[in-house]
Amino acid sequence: MSAVVARASRLLTGRGTRGAGDLTPKPPDAAAILGAMPVPVMVLDMENRFRHVNNAAEQFLGISAAGLAQLRLEDLLPLDNPLFRMIEQVRDTEATISDHDLNLESPRLHKRGITVQGSPLPEEPGSVLLVMQDASAARALDRQLAFRGAARSVSGMAAILAHEVKNPLSGIRGAAQLLESSVGPADRELAELIRDEADRIRDLVDRMEAFGEKPIARTAINIHRVLEHVRKLAQSGFAAHIRFQEMYDPSLPPVWANRDQLVQVVLNLVKNAAEAVTQDGVHHPEIILSTGFQHGMRVAIPGSSERLDLPLFVAVRDNGPGIPEDIRPHLFEPFVTSKSTGSGLGLSLVAKIIGDHGGLIEVDSRPGRTEFRLHLPVVTERDADQ
Ligand SMILES: Nc1ncnc2c1ncn2[C@@H]1O[C@H](COP(=O)(O)OP(=O)(O)O)[C@@H](O)[C@H]1O
Ligand SMILES: [Mg+2]
Repeated sequence: MSAVVARASRLLTGRGTRGAGDLTPKPPDAAAILGAMPVPVMVLDMENRFRHVNNAAEQFLGISAAGLAQLRLEDLLPLDNPLFRMIEQVRDTEATISDHDLNLESPRLHKRGITVQGSPLPEEPGSVLLVMQDASAARALDRQLAFRGAARSVSGMAAILAHEVKNPLSGIRGAAQLLESSVGPADRELAELIRDEADRIRDLVDRMEAFGEKPIARTAINIHRVLEHVRKLAQSGFAAHIRFQEMYDPSLPPVWANRDQLVQVVLNLVKNAAEAVTQDGVHHPEIILSTGFQHGMRVAIPGSSERLDLPLFVAVRDNGPGIPEDIRPHLFEPFVTSKSTGSGLGLSLVAKIIGDHGGLIEVDSRPGRTEFRLHLPVVTERDADQ
């Protein structure tokens, strides 16, 4: 989306389209391009008057451009809407800010779960360019929220399984082991089979127990230590022949997190990446781990009008074939897998843990490039005092 913002702001200001002596054909009219863009784009002047809206914005707001030209944002939304604060921050910081999961509600508007990106227009002091995405467009976020419910149902089920399956299972396993030592070779094979399969079920139940709703203990964590730990684990095991590239921002502050859970998260993402790049047809398999600081990434705190800052990101990228089209809408749901021996629990666990940390996960996938990006909160003074 930030590419869209950058493009739209260039279009509006007419900057960066052609250089002197440039013989490339003249680009279409900027207003025509803006008009055709399927995302709502609007420009507010320093008094929050609508200076420009595209067609998608007219539809989004349900008011014609001519009507909007007479209005200010205050006429559409109550002043305590967090969008006003965000717009002020864009003006103050002169930086792009994305606000996720905003509710734009008033007698005239009923929009929930909207992602808004605000950018300054350097040539027009005080003007702010807003690009909006509703929930269906902000699919990455949508999935993340949808998944939370799914993980809850797994956590309930995990508790039942742990009780009702594990005990009888250990009885079955023990009995099979006894049989192994007392029967003939042909039957011994069968007894071994029982034992192996019992172990497989136990492993599955163990993995599901990770979904339990236990409160998590958090400390200040150096994310790079977590990434290094996982890389070493991977390279001494399942990813022995895969090239790793690291692009870390060494100045990052610590995250407020549970270390073991973060290891689990990154391990699952790296394992998926390794499995993707070792498929047929992938030349020069590679996994890129990167971290960085990104201002203006915020989400709603459930049940409060406060916004949580998520300035730190961790990305795991691979050059595999991409996520199969048919499972994308359900990517973070449990038991969704395209692998014959997959459990489909990895990403749902990842999303649950990140959700428990108040973070956000985004996916961008196409053939040759798949990236999972985690946005995490850093340690605040309040955390440090605890
Ligand atoms: N990096 C990736 N590249 C391509 N597909 C992926 C990637 N990560 C996850 N997937 C897809 O998402 C599915 C679910 O992943 P996951 O929840 O970890 O379960 P599992 O790995 O057991 O299949 C995978 O089966 C795969 O189809
Ligand atoms: Mg997996």
